[in-house]
Amino acid sequence: MTVTPLIIDTDPGVDDAFAIALATASPEVYLCAVTTVFGNVGVEQTTSNALRLLALCDREDVPVARGADRPLVYPHPFRATYVHGSDGLGGRREMLPALSREPDPADAVDLMAGVLRATEQPVTIAAIGPLTNIALLLATHPSLKPKIGRLVVMGGTLGGGNVTATAEFNVWSDPEAARRVLTEEDLPTVLVPMDLTMRCSVDKDWLAQLESAGPVGSTLVSLTPTYLDHYRRVLGREALVLHDAVALAEAVRPGILDCTPLPVDVECSLGPARGVVLADRRAISPDKPTTGRLVELAMDADLAELHRFLLDRLGR
Ligand code: RIB
Ligand code: CA
Repeated sequence: MTVTPLIIDTDPGVDDAFAIALATASPEVYLCAVTTVFGNVGVEQTTSNALRLLALCDREDVPVARGADRPLVYPHPFRATYVHGSDGLGGRREMLPALSREPDPADAVDLMAGVLRATEQPVTIAAIGPLTNIALLLATHPSLKPKIGRLVVMGGTLGGGNVTATAEFNVWSDPEAARRVLTEEDLPTVLVPMDLTMRCSVDKDWLAQLESAGPVGSTLVSLTPTYLDHYRRVLGREALVLHDAVALAEAVRPGILDCTPLPVDVECSLGPARGVVLADRRAISPDKPTTGRLVELAMDADLAELHRFLLDRLGR
């Protein structure tokens, strides 16, 4: 089996915690680095959370580098503490091992660039927070783009939003970065929108199976009460949505999600549509104006298979 080098750029974040654990439990990938970004909570907290989550997963060998504490262009003081708790982990970060090491002295862009230079194989980057670090990496080191085999992004929505009526949190947190990465760059990119992740919700039975599967699963579930409260209100049932773990499933097992190639754009105005992802689903035709760049949009999955895959890996 070919083992793919993997970088995760993240804003942990309860669902990010499941995604990081999935990566460390999957032999198809080798987690080389974790970089952190503002998003669910501030970057100091996301960095501390990433370090402690890697300790939980017995991967304290993985360097963690701090990235952007704000978006590229406009001030954006909004964080998702109402979903992820004030500490980003449901107010339960004390369930994790204590902080026992410092972040890497490099910043996120430098650490990612160093990994891209050092690895022979093309690297998969999984971006599960605002895309600020990814936009900065690609703008600062364009010569390293050929070393990125695939970019798998959790973000966007083609239907209703979660943080506004029409925008999803990661894209809305830095629309200029999202437009740069999803429209202007030319990397092989999979975009996993919340249209699909919301359909992949897991219920109390699934959580109970994970909780009894082993110490990592049990600790992950212990982070979820506040997060479950939020999704009980959103979904109207006892379930929660592991957006980022769905994206990492695709990063780990390419093809587990059903993708459709489409050109996308991102609305960067300051009005009510800010952060909207526009996918042009008109049939490809000679007279259709298009940027030419296509993104693989993950629009469907075998939900039972995905749930089994996640439980098998996270329950190890
Ligand atoms: O909209 C869901 C996304 O925003 C997930 O990545 C979640 O962790 C938050 O960052
Ligand atoms: Ca996230």
